[in-house]
Amino acid sequence: MTIFEGSTALVTGATSGIGYAIAIELARQGAEVVVHGRNAERGAKAVQDIENVGGRARFIAADLSEADDVRRLAAEAGEVDILINNAGIYGFAPTVETDDADFDAHFGTNVRAPYILVQKLVPAMIERGHGNVVNISTVAADKPAAGAGIYGASKAALDLLTKLWADEFGEAGIRVNAVSPGPVETEGSAELGDIVEGLGRTRALQRVGQADEIAKAVAFVASPAASYINGVVLPVDGGSRAERPAA
Ligand SMILES: NC(=O)c1ccc[n+]([C@@H]2O[C@H](COP(=O)([O-])OP(=O)(O)OC[C@H]3O[C@@H](n4cnc5c(N)ncnc54)[C@H](OP(=O)(O)O)[C@@H]3O)[C@@H](O)[C@H]2O)c1
Repeated sequence: MTIFEGSTALVTGATSGIGYAIAIELARQGAEVVVHGRNAERGAKAVQDIENVGGRARFIAADLSEADDVRRLAAEAGEVDILINNAGIYGFAPTVETDDADFDAHFGTNVRAPYILVQKLVPAMIERGHGNVVNISTVAADKPAAGAGIYGASKAALDLLTKLWADEFGEAGIRVNAVSPGPVETEGSAELGDIVEGLGRTRALQRVGQADEIAKAVAFVASPAASYINGVVLPVDGGSRAERPAA
């Protein structure tokens, strides 16, 4: 498939999990992919995997918790037609155990980094007359998940910005949307132990999602098939269960 032929996509956090699956999917559909992460070894593997499916990719390392490093990433990425703000961190801790460093890490990586990338990359999309942005959110941004307060709050901020940017850049033809996954099996979520499996049982489909199920939704939202979809936060979460009496 060559839906994205001639387009360059920057996928942040593409060395693992959902971002890796998005990078592979966009490359399969013809995009040249800028794979971003911190770990150069995992970056080289992602690039190799993309080349193995006939795609084109290059890796840029940057720490998204550092504002200047995010600006360097934007400069080194060059012309980007599709920006996927996927990289994110999700610590689970009660509010009284969340320190300033946790707070700053979540807001720096999950909110400020996408903010800077949009600031730096969207003006050139506007000049070229095309482009779009997909932000990766979470169901915990909409409905609080126990222990995920600062994580959910950071992604709720990203949802708000998604809707704002859809308006701010819509006039120029640039679409901005979010995809909001439920619990997904990834390298990162595996570190949470049983939490993700348990969250899977809260979904109507009664299971966790797979990274490629999220990637397919992201590719659709980024594609011309979604040309009139702008400013939405699309749940890809197995569905919510109906309210029922407590057992
Ligand atoms: N998995 C889930 O259940 C789930 C559910 C809803 C939403 N999400 C969202 O989906 C996104 C991806 O989640 P995932 O589970 O696929 O995560 P993951 O397996 O932990 O991968 C995270 C990716 O982000 C990169 N990253 C993290 N912090 C970074 C930093 N400070 N600077 C640069 N890169 C950084 C990592 O790169 P390196 O390791 O190379 O540094 C890695 O490529 C996140 O935004 C997350 O909030 C996940």
